[in-house]
Amino acid sequence: MDLQDISPKKTVVIAIDGPTASGKGTVAQRVADRLGFHYLDSGALYRLTALSVLRAGIAEDDVGAIASIAGSLPCSFKGGSIFLGCEDVSEDIRTEEAGNMASKVAAHQPVRDALVALQLSFCQPPGLVADGRDMGTVIFPNADAKIFLTASVEVRAQRRYKQLLEKGVSANIDILRKDLEERDRRDSERKSSPLKPAADAVILDSSDLGIEESVQAILDICMMKNIR
Ligand code: DC
Repeated sequence: MDLQDISPKKTVVIAIDGPTASGKGTVAQRVADRLGFHYLDSGALYRLTALSVLRAGIAEDDVGAIASIAGSLPCSFKGGSIFLGCEDVSEDIRTEEAGNMASKVAAHQPVRDALVALQLSFCQPPGLVADGRDMGTVIFPNADAKIFLTASVEVRAQRRYKQLLEKGVSANIDILRKDLEERDRRDSERKSSPLKPAADAVILDSSDLGIEESVQAILDICMMKNIR
């Protein structure tokens, strides 16, 4: 008998990294659904940490206190909703304030270290689609497929603007663009796990692609790697 027939099947990992508002979240979730894989929204973990920090009034440079919050997040993911303890915070973590604070707390290495075990725990058979900034470079360096999903800053600002208007939140496109640029800069220039494509990542620019086209492009890449 071939050894492969009796050894446990390896969990397949697809890493999808990219800048804010690149459409990663929706695209990655759909890829996971199509393949019947689990889904990790690693940004949500930084946002949950940020929300807890904001609510507790902790200073953004109190690294010890923030890492301690990150290391004991009472979070759970149920049916598309995200809970902190018993509270559904799915909406609260998506505000611009929580996103900007997430980008700040994520720059601290002890905070990142505190979230590693939780991220790895999502890696369950038959497979995982992991979405974030450092999935292919740091958390899952041996991922079976790595995609860096990006789009121009104009397109991303437009997408975020449309999302906010649809939610009934008023927004200013120029301020949104400035915020995006600042967040991109902070995420890419930080010392700890900066946002950058893994050397073996496929770069997918979705500026001219709809969500389904991006999903299909990623499924095609997976197919070429025999992931189905
Ligand atoms: O993907 P997002 O916008 O929900 O992420 C919010 C912030 O969290 C982002 O600005 C940077 C940080 N983040 C990170 O540093 N590493 C990750 N793997 C995911 C998110």
